[in-house]
Amino acid sequence: MNKQSKLSIFILMAMLVGSCQQGTNKNKEEIQEAISLPDAVEFRDTIKGEEISLFTLKNKRGMEVALTNFGARIVSLIVSDKDGVNRDVVLGFNKAEDYNNPEEPYFGPIVGPFGNRIANGKFSLDGVEYTLPQNNGPNTLHGGLEGLHFVVWQAKQLSDEAVEFTCVLPDGKEGFPGDRAFKVMYSVNDNNELTIAYEAKTDKRTVLNLTNHAYFNLNGEGSGTILNHQLQIFADQITPVNETLIPTGELKGVKETAFDFTALKAIGKDIEQDDEQLTFGKGYDHNFVLNETKHDGYNYACRLIGDQSGIVMDIYTAEPGIQFYSGNFMADKVTLKNGATDSFRTGLCLEPQHFPDSPNQPSFPSTEVNPGEVYKTTSVYKFSVQ
Ligand code: BGC
Repeated sequence: MNKQSKLSIFILMAMLVGSCQQGTNKNKEEIQEAISLPDAVEFRDTIKGEEISLFTLKNKRGMEVALTNFGARIVSLIVSDKDGVNRDVVLGFNKAEDYNNPEEPYFGPIVGPFGNRIANGKFSLDGVEYTLPQNNGPNTLHGGLEGLHFVVWQAKQLSDEAVEFTCVLPDGKEGFPGDRAFKVMYSVNDNNELTIAYEAKTDKRTVLNLTNHAYFNLNGEGSGTILNHQLQIFADQITPVNETLIPTGELKGVKETAFDFTALKAIGKDIEQDDEQLTFGKGYDHNFVLNETKHDGYNYACRLIGDQSGIVMDIYTAEPGIQFYSGNFMADKVTLKNGATDSFRTGLCLEPQHFPDSPNQPSFPSTEVNPGEVYKTTSVYKFSVQ
């Protein structure tokens, strides 16, 4: 082969390599383009006569969070995966009106004034019995029909990295006592942490248990089930439940049970085990009692890893428990942002909180709040890759 033909083969190969690389880049760009925050125009709406909007938070590392003031909800949470490709790791809708639906599975809102269940819709404080709506079998779930997830909050964008939502619930709303003022601040920082800081005050003795109800899929919304995600929960005990998912009041060790997530384990590994607790929950739908690790006032609650994306989420919280719900009631009832439906176990919730039904369980950490006190709690969701 003469010098000239060697040179032409070399040029041809270089062109081929170049075009292949371009191809890969294009695919990556295409994916990046597909994964973007929802259109803010679709969130400019009026619900219950009040204005709804979309708010965005961004850090310097490309993490983006979209929130709406309807329910103070997380709509999108975009982070890069192990290959630098963006994924939206929470389930949600791409227009405000889709959230205004009683069938909506609590995608991303603040739930309260009392997250999770209160048995038979009743509790007593100072000898007064309060009656709440029974919106989940015989029990009250997530503050009743018109809980904080259905409130139009006032919003203030504090900076590119922080937004604050406030609202007031009047005395007797959904049966709970006290004129109550709530403040929730969402913020991001350059360590890829999303922090949710909660505050509330009341003018009458009441009970409060606030959390966020995001459905996560760390492989990306609509990418299949969460059963191959790896999960570790820093909890040696759970609060076992009865058939209506009300805690029995006992604490039960997780060792040698399907609830042992003390080391990283695939969520699907033991989920079909023959275990009364899994039968009651139709899978995992339980409060884990967090081991007190308290670094900087926070318990290290859990680590979740997307098996396809390598995205890691660590949750730190001031709360004593975390509800792990494996999406067992998801049943293709609604259409998500990217066009997929909410199929069985395609998202999971990890809700830092006080224990369910605490107002009726004297042995659980108290959820009572008095006038003059400030209810305060914080949870941090830290994203990285492996
Ligand atoms: C509860 C589930 C419930 C879900 C509602 C979770 O916090 O533990 O039982 O079905 O919220 O979407």
